[in-house]
Amino acid sequence: MHLQAGSVPIFAAIILQFALPCLSHEPIPVGDSAPVYTVPTVSHAKLLDAANFVDSDSMHVLKDALTNQGLVTVSDIPGFAELRREVLVGMHVCGSAATKARTTVFEDGTSRNTLATIAKGDGELIDIDIGKAAYGACTASLMKKVSEFRSLVSATAKAFTERLDDALRSQYLYTEGKPLLWNYDHSRSYDTMADVVGNAEHLEHFHSYYRPVASNDTAESVAIDLHADQGIFIAFTPGILVEEVSNGEIRDTSKPAGKFYVSLRDGTPAVAKFGQGGDVLVFMLGDGVDQYINPKLSSGPYLRATPHAMVMPQHGEKEWRAWYGRMFLPPSDALSEKHGLSFGQLRERMIDGVHKGKGVGSGVGCSRMLQETDEECGDNQMYCWMRCMDYTEEASPLICAAATNADGLALNLQVQCTSQFDQIYRRGIDTHGDYNPICTNSTENITAAPSIADSDWAQNTPYTESCSDAAWETFLSKSEYTNSLNLKTDGDDGYGALYLLYTVQGNQLKGKMAYRGVAGWLAFGPENHGGGHNGMNGAHIVMGTYDPDPTIDEPLFEPIYVGTTVAEYIINDDTSAFRTWKTPVSPGSVSDSEMLVEGGCFTGMTFTADGAIAKDALNMTGANSFIWGVHTASFYKNYHGYTNRGHLCLDFCSELGHQNFVSPFSPDQPATLQACSYSDYTTCEVTSNDCNDYGVACSNVAPRLGHLQLFAIAMLACLAHHLVR
Ligand SMILES: *[C@@H]1O[C@H](CO)[C@@H](O)[C@H](O)[C@H]1NC(C)=O
Ligand SMILES: *[C@@H]1O[C@H](CO)[C@@H](O)[C@H](O)[C@H]1NC(C)=O
Ligand SMILES: *[C@@H]1O[C@H](CO)[C@@H](O)[C@H](O)[C@H]1NC(C)=O
Ligand SMILES: *[C@@H]1O[C@H](CO)[C@@H](O)[C@H](O)[C@H]1NC(C)=O
Repeated sequence: MHLQAGSVPIFAAIILQFALPCLSHEPIPVGDSAPVYTVPTVSHAKLLDAANFVDSDSMHVLKDALTNQGLVTVSDIPGFAELRREVLVGMHVCGSAATKARTTVFEDGTSRNTLATIAKGDGELIDIDIGKAAYGACTASLMKKVSEFRSLVSATAKAFTERLDDALRSQYLYTEGKPLLWNYDHSRSYDTMADVVGNAEHLEHFHSYYRPVASNDTAESVAIDLHADQGIFIAFTPGILVEEVSNGEIRDTSKPAGKFYVSLRDGTPAVAKFGQGGDVLVFMLGDGVDQYINPKLSSGPYLRATPHAMVMPQHGEKEWRAWYGRMFLPPSDALSEKHGLSFGQLRERMIDGVHKGKGVGSGVGCSRMLQETDEECGDNQMYCWMRCMDYTEEASPLICAAATNADGLALNLQVQCTSQFDQIYRRGIDTHGDYNPICTNSTENITAAPSIADSDWAQNTPYTESCSDAAWETFLSKSEYTNSLNLKTDGDDGYGALYLLYTVQGNQLKGKMAYRGVAGWLAFGPENHGGGHNGMNGAHIVMGTYDPDPTIDEPLFEPIYVGTTVAEYIINDDTSAFRTWKTPVSPGSVSDSEMLVEGGCFTGMTFTADGAIAKDALNMTGANSFIWGVHTASFYKNYHGYTNRGHLCLDFCSELGHQNFVSPFSPDQPATLQACSYSDYTTCEVTSNDCNDYGVACSNVAPRLGHLQLFAIAMLACLAHHLVR
């Protein structure tokens, strides 16, 4: 039984992801003092009856349960009761003998043995990697039962997801271009829960818990403290207590298997009661609903991630608590807007953080369930742009209330999450922008920054005849550079094309970016590997700004006018807004730079980099990965937009060294995951794909040739290069 190679690293994080105890709370009342919460239930038959579900009582039960406390059970699943008990008992036995089982020890001394695997959203089940198991503990007949059980969970979860879509459909915003998730490059959307869940890999666990019993210790103890799970939701069966009887056989005791506490909306911890002797499948929402489902609902009621805790029972020396759960995650290629990384990358980061000894969550922060809504931000914070932001010395409720006008009259302003244009951020509606807590009574909604087309400048500088193809060729001046890459293809009229031209001369990179149209800025520089927003945060860049209007103003912030010029910058490690990194690196590494503007026709910049950009060294004899961006919507130094940026790999060792660049991102391979590998190039394996599929015009060599010719010429060029060397 084998896992796919790609799945293996995930396992390091699986066990951690299930429990990230990072919520502060009242102590969990052990003993019998806690109130009981009976979890609402929907029958399996009703859940599968898609035709009659909408507006049925079952739909209301489902929706109320998930928006109220965040969990629901599915009852009367045919064949489930027997299968569940057989599988839990069998997997306890198997797990205790399997070499691939992992053990975790909790603070209260409880230890947990785990077998983990993956179930895909499309129903495919990855075999459980057991390693070797002593005593034939993991029999073929057990594995067959386990498969049946897992398939039943898959089918029930699929129905659950689809019915939840039915219940939420009227609140979804995907018809207005706001799907629940985008993939990394915005080339595909995940509109509904069924899309999100059906296209992801989910983590499954069979756990056995054991609490060493001291002779004088009879109390219950909190094994896993209050937390919300990561992921969108988890499907689990309540634990059972199994025991080893005299002949070594393991059986189900039907005794209580500890307590599952949920923190109710009012903060009370209550013991969850699941009904049907626990022979139900429980669906409980995780942190993911606050991260990327709720913000994409037009209005409430919103889904609730349920904080929960587990208290181990008192149990005998030969007893264990056996449990099964599956955590439903977003697709690994989906973009976490908050982090600017794909969920797959976030998972890798988390694993990295653990390996580097930084502990759980150092890469991504622990489960932020409590910080995703207004009412749950800290006392010194407000909810602003998908996160809790600290109040500042200029803006807090007290400071805003005390604000006075020039005559000393009290203004009694409110503190709001506000853009630089004094417009107010709307949760779940507004996305990219520079939002901050600010004292203002504005009621204006966010609008796009004043566009180039609407500016006074545009009225006075019309697109004219001089913007001809011939004038563009002259502006590009390809013959002055060895390489010319078409980063963005043009529209039918040629307008909108972007080129990077470059020549390597010894330790110098002579470069040019040329845009067919008016651009507010263009930028280029080495990728900051591992930095936020696909290696943009923290990157060193050369940036040309076209700044025709000295009065350009972001009314609430300091001036951002820099003039029409080329300068080097280091993008802020954490924030993307230009104002947070607008001080140029000076002296930098670039000389002979010039901003090129031809009326309403073309915008570009030239520069000569002396072995580095903004002091970040380039490998002038090897491969380098770069990022580029262009902003064409306004004269503000704003967000480039999704198709106006990319990554590319340039090999300066080869005279014609561009390869495998992605513009915009290739749908099946996020750019940051593409190795910028030198070895590909030393073997001169240029396939026709490398150039044409990404729109690379190797035009200096072979203007507008077909695939085959281009390939042949590339081969010749490579051959020649080798001979010369
Ligand atoms: C058992 O009780 C004794 C005396 O109260 C105490 O010192 C000891 O730590 C206890 N053992 C455990 C495992 O709690
Ligand atoms: C701002 O809004 C608050 C609360 O609505 C109001 O009391 C106050 O008078 C307003 N201030 C101004 C200057 O409009
Ligand atoms: C602002 O947006 C909200 C919701 O999107 C809308 O209901 C409201 O009418 C808008 N207000 C203005 C002033 O446009
Ligand atoms: C530059 O790239 C070449 C070819 O891959 C490599 O041999 C060399 O070590 C690199 N130099 C630096 C400074 O990274």
